[in-house]
Amino acid sequence: SATIELLEAPAPAAAPVPALPKEATILFGSQTGNAQRLAGRLAEQLKGQGFEVTLSAMNKYKTNNLKKAAYLFIVASTHGEGDPPDNAVSFHEFLHSKRAPKLDETKFAVLALGDTSYEFFCKTGQDFDARLAELGAERIVDRVDCDVDFEEAASGWLAAVNKAVSAASAPAASAAGASAGTAAAPASASAESEYSRANPFYAEVLENLNLNGRGSDRETRHLELSLEGSGLTYSPGDAVGVYPQNDPALVEEILSYLKWNPEEAVVTGKNGETSSLRKALHHHYEITVLTKPLLEKAVQYSGNAKLADLVKPENKEELKAYIDGRDLLDLLRDYGPWTLVPGDIANLLRKLPPRLYSIASSVNSHPDEVHLTIRKVEYEAHGRERKGVCSVYASERLAPGDTVPIFIQQNPNFKPPANPETPVIMIGPGTGVAPFRAFMEDREELGATGPSWLFYGDRHFVTDFLYQTDWQRMLKDGVLTKLDVAFSRDTDEKVYVQNRMLENGQELYKWLQDGAHVYVCGDEKHMAHDVHSALLAIVGQYGSKSPEAAAEYLSELQDQGRYQRDVY
Ligand code: 2AM
Repeated sequence: SATIELLEAPAPAAAPVPALPKEATILFGSQTGNAQRLAGRLAEQLKGQGFEVTLSAMNKYKTNNLKKAAYLFIVASTHGEGDPPDNAVSFHEFLHSKRAPKLDETKFAVLALGDTSYEFFCKTGQDFDARLAELGAERIVDRVDCDVDFEEAASGWLAAVNKAVSAASAPAASAAGASAGTAAAPASASAESEYSRANPFYAEVLENLNLNGRGSDRETRHLELSLEGSGLTYSPGDAVGVYPQNDPALVEEILSYLKWNPEEAVVTGKNGETSSLRKALHHHYEITVLTKPLLEKAVQYSGNAKLADLVKPENKEELKAYIDGRDLLDLLRDYGPWTLVPGDIANLLRKLPPRLYSIASSVNSHPDEVHLTIRKVEYEAHGRERKGVCSVYASERLAPGDTVPIFIQQNPNFKPPANPETPVIMIGPGTGVAPFRAFMEDREELGATGPSWLFYGDRHFVTDFLYQTDWQRMLKDGVLTKLDVAFSRDTDEKVYVQNRMLENGQELYKWLQDGAHVYVCGDEKHMAHDVHSALLAIVGQYGSKSPEAAAEYLSELQDQGRYQRDVY
């Protein structure tokens, strides 16, 4: 055939067509691993195009290589109030500083991950995108901002990058022939199991226990799930994604408010799959969270001029205040009358996203099982009782024998030290203690007795000491060396984990100097922030360092993977 003849013909002596070097640098900033996985997919795709690829976490990247980068791709998620993930902080700072090089020779594209229910949606990706352009780099593909259900948007961006680089880097004369054979990207990264986020495993519930004692004002479920037959496995620090179901009572209220027939068929999948309206609201769509894009779309179905007003840019603050703590039922009640018909919900609502829970077990101690620690979230807001979707589902509607769709979310950014004898300091109040049960069970299985120190806290000693008997056993068998606890509501004055850290500051600093790794898991906004301040204070005082030097010390620990956080 013509193609084969062409390939076998002696190399033509034509003058070389100038082409950009096929070298790509892919940097990711990832907290839970999604951005990292997408960056990995891009790497495979570009290698398939004949690129030499450098794939790196932002904090592991030697920034003096930046000015030589021909192609630079960034995949970054955003956290909390518009913050970069931990492993993106130093690079984000560097790029926005005066030290950042001119990038006139660089072509770039940015993929941003985020959540439209947060005000600073995709801010980190937006920052990188704007700054790279400012430094003179050429944007070859527009930034895509992905919502929690990122798969489709991210795949679109990956395809656009593929197209842009094959157009730009293949010599013009042979472009068609060269790209035809090599453009196909591998469908997915190597997977040991057929189950994934896109194809969850229906795990059987083996146990569902309340870890809190009678009289506690909290309810925390210890959920044991079977992985038998799934081929799924995990390592300490990984998480499980759970696909929950909405509260049936809330679904019925919405249906009856709209006077819709619950049995009417509606589309729920990209490929035109349908289900009943009741099931769609129960399983497929998010009904408990309001986002700005949702309100903007809702305007077209509402006969109420006040809604059109609320989404105007000048009413940004009012909109923010309105969506906070309200749900779809509030919106329907507050901004009717509606012209909405069942066929519109696919346009209006987001898909119900999976919830991630840090795994509380070691697969070596519990073969074919995975354990989760889930605190039930219930509160009152705007005159109604509100229920956390997944935690209440797990607490009230999952019994042994039921099945629940799950997947494993590997978290390469929260891993115990490679050497199980390396000292570890673990700070995990409340459900933040979950991954440390996994860490310690793993060490127990390995027979490792390297120093380990757990800081745990919750409200009351008697009712809220999660996994108390496990910690006691581990202290006794020597796998856990030290345990410090802070029960905040047993005394007149509140004590928190960070108070215990400060009380033990001198010893804690010595552990750090001896090479300990520090892990923090749990609440991001208050706890993790205060724990960080405590670490700064300890390093400052016992290492005789200025505040700047103490910050530098911690940021170096972070870059070495010796200070890792799994915070939410
Ligand atoms: P509190 O609710 O009594 O204030 C787990 O939720 C534990 O974390 C509880 O004991 C809770 O105390 C505590 N906690 C609340 N805010 C905290 C903070 N900023 N730092 C550390 N722990 C905190």
